[in-house]
Amino acid sequence: MFTARPAIVWAAISLSLAGLALVQAGAAGAAAPGPSSNVSLRAAAAPLGLGIGSAVYAGAGDYRATALREFSMVTPENSMKWAVLHPQPAVFDFHAADQVVRMAMDGGMRVRGHTLVWHGSLPDWLSQGDFPREEWIRILRQHIATVMGYYRAHYPGVVVQWDVVNEAVADCPGPRPCGLRDTLWLRKIGPEYIAMAFRFAREADPSAKLYYNDYGTESGYPSAIAKRDGMLLLLAGLLAQGVPIDGVGLQFHIGLGAPASDYLADLFQRIAALKLDVAVTELDVALGAAPGAQPGQLQQQAAVYRDVLEACLGQPRCRTFMVWGFTDAASWRAAEAPCIFDSQLQPKPAYVALRDELLQRRRPGPARAR
Ligand code: XIL
Repeated sequence: MFTARPAIVWAAISLSLAGLALVQAGAAGAAAPGPSSNVSLRAAAAPLGLGIGSAVYAGAGDYRATALREFSMVTPENSMKWAVLHPQPAVFDFHAADQVVRMAMDGGMRVRGHTLVWHGSLPDWLSQGDFPREEWIRILRQHIATVMGYYRAHYPGVVVQWDVVNEAVADCPGPRPCGLRDTLWLRKIGPEYIAMAFRFAREADPSAKLYYNDYGTESGYPSAIAKRDGMLLLLAGLLAQGVPIDGVGLQFHIGLGAPASDYLADLFQRIAALKLDVAVTELDVALGAAPGAQPGQLQQQAAVYRDVLEACLGQPRCRTFMVWGFTDAASWRAAEAPCIFDSQLQPKPAYVALRDELLQRRRPGPARAR
């Protein structure tokens, strides 16, 4: 069990990080270091008020050391999903997720909780469950209250953002905006499940930032425009009903066909216009079928990473930038080498591109606190 001690340690680390941010702000203001700089991503991001991070496992050795050195935020890649945390109706198992949260605390990092309501990673008792609607609502509320309540009680101030609802908008070809995805939650509760989940989440931890998270809106193709429009309609409708949503997470599982910068800037601006924060939550950039076979692939990959970061830095409401796994050795798309470190944990051109973009960046106005 945990005592109040970790929270005190965390507060102390936060204070020293705030100090670091100020020092770095001065340094970056004086002269932008060149590509040979060995400043970490988190140190480069701090003066910009940007949390930078990765999905992680509770790893050891160089994997852990790299995560602690480079990032100020982490997301457990799988261990906060329903099948892991809540495998039986009356069983909550926080063991695996706790290892990630403790790793975060050891490194003075904050955590994005991922994810409370999703069609994936459902335990059998849910996917095969047969309950009346009221019982589904009770299950949803109890899950959200128990999970968020656990982190709020045991690790206060550490899990600062939650992906409350993940991937609720359907894929569709367009041109009409996409509707809701056909999921267990939609079938069992109806479209109200989304509003309910956010309300339950606000109730469970009023200080956490609550996110809607989705993929496939970022490319500018007709299907992506239709999904973007579907997502924006959904969000606007929820906000009009007073549903407590703080931000939108954009996943960005993409490839070398880079999203156009003006489209991205517009997407981020449309979200900001709803008075919502926008976060890059799961960026990875697949090299394609034969990673490394084509000359210039790594440079192209670097350019895509840089473009997405640039879009985030260009939008004042974008203050979180996360990659989905940082090493090709542990990526869910390992065969396509989509990460910023190679499988030996050596930085790739994409890493250097991100760091240089952070170091060279000047944001208009004063640096914003998170
Ligand atoms: C993925 C994990 O990376 C895999 O290890 C797992 O097998 C499946 O889920 N969108 C999301 C993430 O929101 O939770 C998914 O993570 C990737 C797509």
